[in-house]
Amino acid sequence: MEDRIVSQEAESGEDLVEQSIRPDRLREYIGQRKVKENLEVFIEAAKLREEPLDHTLLYGPPGLGKTTLAMIIAREMDVNIRTTSGPAIERPGDLAAVMTALEPGDVLFIDEIHRLPRAVEEVLYPAMEDFCIDIVIGKDSSARSVRLDLPPFTLIGATTRAGLLSAPLRDRFGVHARLEYYVEEDLAEIVRRSGDLFQLNIDKGAAYELARRSRGTPRVVNRLLRRVRDFAQVQGDGSITMELANHALERLQVDKLGLDHIDHKYLLGLIETFRGGPAGVEAIAAKIGEEAHTLEDVYEPYLMQIGFLQRTPRGRKAAPLAYEHFGYPYQEDNT
Ligand SMILES: Nc1ncnc2c1ncn2[C@@H]1O[C@H](COP(=O)(O)OP(=O)(O)OP(=O)(O)O)[C@@H](O)[C@H]1O
Ligand SMILES: [Mg+2]
Repeated sequence: MEDRIVSQEAESGEDLVEQSIRPDRLREYIGQRKVKENLEVFIEAAKLREEPLDHTLLYGPPGLGKTTLAMIIAREMDVNIRTTSGPAIERPGDLAAVMTALEPGDVLFIDEIHRLPRAVEEVLYPAMEDFCIDIVIGKDSSARSVRLDLPPFTLIGATTRAGLLSAPLRDRFGVHARLEYYVEEDLAEIVRRSGDLFQLNIDKGAAYELARRSRGTPRVVNRLLRRVRDFAQVQGDGSITMELANHALERLQVDKLGLDHIDHKYLLGLIETFRGGPAGVEAIAAKIGEEAHTLEDVYEPYLMQIGFLQRTPRGRKAAPLAYEHFGYPYQEDNT
């Protein structure tokens, strides 16, 4: 059972590459200055007191470095990390199995923590507060509750949807760290770092071009870099120039703002089929053949960030900037 619930990440080759270029120290973690500087203090203070770090909630859009940061925290605290996720823990007993295997000071990382079943969440509260859990053993008339003591540990929860966490759970985290989209400069630095690890020759201009077109997201910039590297090795001499980067990005259908064909389908669908909205995300998803929750988690946050999309109580609306991007006249009267 444990293997199913506690797993290391990495399934595909791409995942393995992603893992291999993960920074594993706080000083190698680029950007997110505020979060990093605060964590440095909290980690140092916990170590001075020889206590585990307070429970920490990491939230923000996909690919910004939540899992990476959880691993770095464990490394900096010099403890083991056990990784699981909300959907993997179906019953309180699953959580008990994971928790009773913890060593003092360990980090328990629960990814997608907003997807924990409510019954499991309730077992988590006393575990977080008092380092103990109550579990029910036996069935029906022979059922009884036993209390198990746990070693002190740090829970790190990660979520792309902090709004979906229940207030009691959110309040039990002593540290809240919100990751922001990365600025161009930091992404260019990530390209340089990954390029060094891949032993690539990258022009400064090309690094910035990749940075500009990666939606503020390290995972995206690294993925674009790997694809551009393919073009460089097959069609060029292996080095990544501005010209090669532009050619490859065009082939990858990544536009000047970093929007890809799904962003295009989304926005064009909203503008053309729904006259700019407001439209429900489910309706848009059905129209363009994508999953609503993927649009909500992955695509919409960035489109809102760059002012292309507005969320209103009546649904999504395309903003004037989106019309402009596609060369459509904006109709004010589209509600
Ligand atoms: N601050 C950073 N500096 C350098 N590289 C980073 C940074 N943050 C993330 N990365 C890179 O981006 C990749 C994606 O990061 P990570 O898997 O931690 O994101 P995530 O927030 O956990 O995403 P998801 O919400 O999808 O689980 C990592 O492989 C890592 O190499
Ligand atoms: Mg993650």
